[in-house]
Amino acid sequence: MNRHLEHIRAIVQVQQTYAKTPLLTEECDLAQLVDDTLRIQYTSLQRHGITLTREFARLPRMWHDKHKVMQILVNLVANAKYAMDAMPEQQRHLLVRLTMDDGWARIQVTDSGVGLAPEILGKLFTHGFTTRKDGHGFGLHSSALAAKMLGGRLTLESEGTGKGTTATLEIPLMPEPRKPPPETRRKEPHVGPPSPEKDP
Ligand SMILES: Nc1ncnc2c1ncn2[C@@H]1O[C@H](COP(=O)(O)OP(=O)(O)OP(=O)(O)O)[C@@H](O)[C@H]1O
Ligand SMILES: [Mg+2]
Repeated sequence: MNRHLEHIRAIVQVQQTYAKTPLLTEECDLAQLVDDTLRIQYTSLQRHGITLTREFARLPRMWHDKHKVMQILVNLVANAKYAMDAMPEQQRHLLVRLTMDDGWARIQVTDSGVGLAPEILGKLFTHGFTTRKDGHGFGLHSSALAAKMLGGRLTLESEGTGKGTTATLEIPLMPEPRKPPPETRRKEPHVGPPSPEKDP
């Protein structure tokens, strides 16, 4: 339970500062991470009468910023949940898939909700765009930025109004910690006697 509380605290913190926080990478099991996120939202999904299906492929451990991945997923699942509010209860299905392809991990959140009308497709990632009464229109904007910081991308597709939506987050498999670019790498402080060749 502590792990979940810690995640919730971290998500709230990250949501407050959006994607501006620097990357904090650690070794992670992506399936576990997606599972933890869904567990946090499960009660709410149940309350909305949504059935949840998970399809997780086996993925190697990788280095990523867990909280950024969670921040993105929380918003995708919340968006899916609201998109299904308009559907009759027996038609509210959420599918979360985790797959791997050519060096990329792919997380897909597919809902059976209202879908995306062609005229809103170009506005989805615009800061402040929302069609929800209580929405802010920050979720997809900040999630797309966070996906970019992770070296990946976020896309949404739908066959149209009433046809549901699939959100896809793709991030590189990243088997090792990411090295900062050379110009930002910190110089190690010099310890020991001054090296003669560097002295004037
Ligand atoms: N799965 C989805 N199905 C249908 N429409 C969606 C879906 N996801 C996003 N949208 C549309 O994109 C808009 C923007 O989503 P976004 O997450 O950026 O903001 P929001 O959910 O409205 O507010 P918040 O800032 O609280 O996340 C939504 O208001 C909705 O119109
Ligand atoms: Mg949202």
